[in-house]
Order: sequence, then structure tokens, then C-alpha cells
Amino acid sequence: MGETIKDFKRTHLCGEISKKNESQEIIIMGWVQKRRDHGGVIFADIRDRSGIIQVVFNPDIGEESFSKADQLRSEYVVAVKGEVELRPEGNINPDIYTGEIEIKCQELRILDKAKTPPIQVEDDIDAGEDIRLKYRYLDLRRPKMTQIVGLRHKITKATRDYLDQNGFWEIETPILTKSTPEGARDYLVPSRVNPGQFFALPQSPQIFKQLLMVSGMERYFQIARCFRDEDLRANRQPEFTQIDMEMSFVNREDVFEITNGLMKKIFAEVDIDVPDKIKKMSYQEAMERFGTDKPDLRFGMELKDLSPIVENSNFNIFSGTVKSGGQVKGINYKGGADSSRSIIDNFEEHVKLFKAKGLAWIALRDGELKSPIAKFLSKEELDNILTKMNAEEGDLLLIVADKASIVANALSNLRLKIAKDFDLIPSEVYKFVWIIDFPLFEYDEEEDCFQSKHHPFAAPVDEDIDKLEKDPASVRADAYDLVLNGEELGGGSIRINNRPLQQKVFSVLSMSEKEQQEKFGFLLEAFDYGTPPHGGIAFGMDRLMMITARTDSIRDVIAFPKTQRATSLLTNAPSKVSKKQLKELGLSLRS
Ligand code: AMO
Ligand code: AMP
Repeated sequence: MGETIKDFKRTHLCGEISKKNESQEIIIMGWVQKRRDHGGVIFADIRDRSGIIQVVFNPDIGEESFSKADQLRSEYVVAVKGEVELRPEGNINPDIYTGEIEIKCQELRILDKAKTPPIQVEDDIDAGEDIRLKYRYLDLRRPKMTQIVGLRHKITKATRDYLDQNGFWEIETPILTKSTPEGARDYLVPSRVNPGQFFALPQSPQIFKQLLMVSGMERYFQIARCFRDEDLRANRQPEFTQIDMEMSFVNREDVFEITNGLMKKIFAEVDIDVPDKIKKMSYQEAMERFGTDKPDLRFGMELKDLSPIVENSNFNIFSGTVKSGGQVKGINYKGGADSSRSIIDNFEEHVKLFKAKGLAWIALRDGELKSPIAKFLSKEELDNILTKMNAEEGDLLLIVADKASIVANALSNLRLKIAKDFDLIPSEVYKFVWIIDFPLFEYDEEEDCFQSKHHPFAAPVDEDIDKLEKDPASVRADAYDLVLNGEELGGGSIRINNRPLQQKVFSVLSMSEKEQQEKFGFLLEAFDYGTPPHGGIAFGMDRLMMITARTDSIRDVIAFPKTQRATSLLTNAPSKVSKKQLKELGLSLRS
């Protein structure tokens, strides 16, 4: 049993004490970071969530307290009453805020003991992630992790304050609900009282936020938990958080204005400047110049279209590709001409991951062109390629010929790989861009049908509405994504707000009347009762946190994250349930 703090009142947090508190009598409470015995004098660093402070135990505090100090071990929980003193010259630690002072202990209480922790509670540890996740409560004691949790609180609060000031109401929407189409699989929850029926956890609050606009709530937001059963990648979690917003009587520019302000507010928390007016780029331009709708604008190496130059070339791989409707495009890795064969082979392997059939290259080295394909190209074709790609001595040109989608995917990924591998990305540079005018639909070759590029509620741009039936592929959506340094921070759209247009879009998506009614009848019906024009957006809170906390792992910014296999190593969820529970739910397992 630990000692009591009944008659003890904490006066300060460890990290807040400084020279200005000299000679004050204070009481701190926290964990023992480290104890050092200096022959007759004991030092202990005490940590709470605000920081660390050094406490000195001299024998003159009394025999009992001094011998208690001798028992201290890492992670013991203590309360210390003492006096703030300046540290002697030479003992000053300029690295920490409290480094000029220490606490001379007058009374020590041990509130709880601790076993030796399986991971060290320090910033730079090399413990594997599995053990960190199993003992997450200890991992979160590490100052770096504690600070991220604190930063998340500050950013959430800044978001709430800003949106409140701008007339948004925070409204909760159901977690036990019906499928929401955001393109992932649903997490299902069986209903005990309605055997054989299931709730779906929301992939987003999309439909409810639109219904709230029909309800006349005007401006809604929610720090919303979303659930998506999808294949996990580095920056995805099965449950994650959105800053979800919706507004009535707005156009795209209104949404941009409000959210630009929100981004300024959020990034100000970490001293990152956001432009007053974030630039816009059309989807088409992004695809042409960067091969992706999430362009990283911190460096160049843009894709150049060589198709017109090589369409009649004798080099069949190029001319044949162009004639059959494909593209030949290249990127210029400036200064890359010295790359070894194995590096170039590695680039080729990389584009093959994205289904490219090969990678042609031209190196401008020692005043000559080194290339396996130069011999197949005419002098004029080569000259035009070099001009088009701004090639200079020392450059390496990397070219892919294929279907447009494969060229885009292969080269955009190669561009990123080269930039990362060879440190071409400047640090502490933040390039925001709105990507606009997305296509409304995407053709799904496997399923042989159109899918929504975002979700089926995004409105087509006015000029394209009459192309919906004749030429769905060419219809643009009044949709937008905010991209920062190649990451999609958020996405949204102006919505369809009437039944006929919504039903037309559903039918392009091959949804029968019956299916429309079953899945979205309630929404269509709501549209019949006076629906304001409305639009909104959702930002990925976890991605915002990764950038503001400057970490590469989404698991670092969520207090209790799941692994890449969608499990919790701390609680061992998901887990088996008893036969009784299954029976109550009317379920049986296929073995
Ligand atoms: P969308 O599906 O684009 O839009 O999601 C919005 C943002 O949420 C983040 N995000 C994720 N973050 C972590 N893990 C995931 N698995 C994950 N999936 C998405 C991304 C993304 O930009 N209802 C619409 C928004 C709207 O139209 O208003 C929606 O959910 O940062
Ligand atoms: P091959 O004649 O197949 O050996 O190819 C000659 C060169 O062209 C090699 O460097 C290949 O990597 C490259 N190559 C082959 N197919 C393509 C393609 N679709 N796009 C770009 N380069 C290619």
C-alpha cells in the first residue's frame, strides 16, 4: 500500500517550475525517471506530463525520508515537498526548462511502487513497436508521446473554437447505423433484438450531416470517429477520426474560405504558415504534371509528355503505345546521370510494381548520351526529347510507355521514390493545394461499371449535368481535396440536393430503383421536403496530426491504435466470444 496524499496538495507541475520560483516551498507529484546515488546525496528526476525536474535528497531531511529515497526505483509514483533552489554552477542543464533549478526535498512520500518496466520510459528507445503497443500505457509516458497526446488535444480545441466562432454547431450522429458508401467494407454489428439483422458502423457521417442540413442546422461539425474495414496501409487505421463539416447555402469558394481559415488556425499551433489563399489546381493538370491527384509540390521532376515526339518513331515500343491510345512520358532526375546500373535496375523494378512493362532511360554523361534505346531513335526525336525534358549534362531521363493510367501511376511513384531516396525534398516546407474538378465517376474495369470517384452525393458541375447519361466519364464533380506535401488531408464536395438528380446519379452507378429505395429511400424522401443547397468536407484528423507532430506513423498520433493487422495488442481485440453470446445473437460460426 502506498502512502496517502490526503493532507498533501500538489502545488506545481514539474515542467513549470523555474528560477522565478526560487526559495518557494512546493509540492510536486509524479513518476521517478531516474535515481542516482552520489555517495551521501541522492538525486531523482521526477516526471509528470509537463516535464522533468531534479530533486535532491540530503541526509539532513531526516533518516526516514532519506532511506525512503534510497528505495526509489524507476516509475515509482511519489509526492515530494521541498524548496526550489538554484543549481550550483556546473550542474546546470541547458537542455531542459527546469535545468537551472532543483528541489531540495523536505518530505518524500512513496504513493506506489512499480515493477521494472518492459520498455524504458525515454524518448530514444529501440523497443519494437509490438512491445510498445502491448504496454501502450507505458509507451505514452515517454515525453515525445505525451506531447503528441497534448498536441492532439490542443488541435482539437483550436478546431472547436474556430468552428464555434464561425457559427458551427457540434452535433453527434449515430455509431450504430446503416451502411454509408465511402468505398470500404463495413464493420457490422449484429442486433440481438432483431435476429438476423445488422447495424453498420459509419464509414463517415456523410448522410446524417446532409440530413442535418435538411433539418435547418445550417452549419454542422463533428470530431467524428469513422470505421472502415479496408486493407491497411501506412497512413490508414480501421477506426480513425475526421473533422467533419457541412454548411448550407454555400458554394465551393465559401467552403474554401472557411476551411482555409481552419487550416491556418490548426497549423499556427505548430508554427507552420498556411497561405491566406491556398492555390487551386485542376485534377487534369495534377494528373498531367504529376501523374497523381495528390501532388507533392515541394520539388520538381514533373512528368513530360513525349507522345507527340515519338508517335511515328521507328522505336516500336514508343510509337506502338501512342498509336494504340497510350502515352509516353518521362521525368528528369537532375544530376542522376551517374546512377549505377543497379540503381537504374531498382528504378525499373519499382515502376514494374505499378504494372509498367519497362523503364527506358537516357543518361547525359561526359558529353554523350548513354542509353539502351538511343540507337532506336532518330537524332531529331532525341533532340526533341532532350529539349522537352530540359535535359542538361548530368541528367538522367526516365521514360515509360503504356496506358495513361499506368504511366501516371508508375512515374508518379518513381518520382516520389527518387525524391525520398536521394533527399530531394526540402524539410520544413509546406505546400498546400486544392485539387478541384475531379471526375464524378471512375470506370471500374473489373466490375465493368462506373463507380463514384468520391461518393454518390457529390454534385456534378452545372455545365456537365446534361452529359450525365450520354457521357458519364466526362462529367466533372463539384468536389475538392486539400493536399499537403503529397498527402490528402481532406476531401469534400457541393452536394446534390434534389431527388431527380440524385436518382440519375444512382442509375449511372447501376443502382436499380429498388436498390436506391432500400439503401437511400430515407434520404431521397428527405430531399422532397425543402433542401437547401449545401456542401462540406472532412479532414483526416490523424493525418493532420502526423504532419503537425512531424511523425511518419499514424500509430504515433492515436492514443490506442490498432496494428497493421487491425488488432489491439493491448486488449487482444478482436477476440472470440462465448457460445452463449453467439446464440443470443442468433449467429453460428462456420468452422
Ligand atoms: P473521405 O473518404 O475522403 O471523405 O475521407 C476524408 C478524409 O479522412 C481521412 N481518411 C483516413 N484517415 C485515416 N485512416 C483511414 N482509413 C482514412 N480514410 C480516410 C483522409 C481523407 O481525406 N464523407 C466524405 C467527406 C465529405 O464529402 O464531406 C469522406 O469521408 O484524410
Ligand atoms: P526490350 O527491347 O524489351 O529489351 O526493351 C528495350 C528497353 O526499353 C529496355 O530498357 C526496357 O526497359 C525499355 N522498355 C520496354 N518496355 C517499355 C515500356 N513500356 N516503357 C518504357 N520503356 C520500356
